[in-house]
Amino acid sequence: MGLVTMSGKRYLPSDRPVTWVALAGFMGTGKSRIGWELSRRLSLNFVDTDRVIERISCMRISDIFELYGEEVFRDFETEVVRRCLKLDEVVVSTGGGTVMREENRNLLRGRGPVVVLFANPKTIYHRTRRHKRPLLEVGDPEVRIQQLLQARQAAYDAVATLRVSTDHRDSSAVVEEIIMKLRTWKVQQP
Ligand code: S3P
Repeated sequence: MGLVTMSGKRYLPSDRPVTWVALAGFMGTGKSRIGWELSRRLSLNFVDTDRVIERISCMRISDIFELYGEEVFRDFETEVVRRCLKLDEVVVSTGGGTVMREENRNLLRGRGPVVVLFANPKTIYHRTRRHKRPLLEVGDPEVRIQQLLQARQAAYDAVATLRVSTDHRDSSAVVEEIIMKLRTWKVQQP
């Protein structure tokens, strides 16, 4: 059931598996793109925490890192996560490092399902090299990606309600898989 749109069927409010969902995962796994498309398909709003941080600080993320350091950025992140918990009818796309704080993982998991997107390091490297990411501004970003992925894997696993690969796939196929898995998750809830 639903309205037909260019990107496929758009669910009616009564037919949506969830009205709040967060996306997490490493840089370059497609959280913003997939999150936006998912929000269109589910007729939900879309919030990207990085963009909110830029708006409330009136600064670019790279400038926050450069001028104030990572911890200040992480504090902004936690504040924005808290604000997102109060929203409804929304898909929330988080930054790649958001779930490294246990507090953030608990906040997100306490609010609703968290979809963790993943991709292999080569894909991540190709997707991130054109856009500025302060943590990848190093001599060998591919090695840095491997190191960070390894260091973060446990946090992504801990926060994941469900996991979906974005490697070599059309975004619409990824969105379909997320919706299907959210439906399955929903019926398993007490
Ligand atoms: C970061 C990921 C970025 C952004 C910041 C830090 C990280 O978001 O929040 O540069 O620690 O992985 P994306 O995952 O949207 O690139």
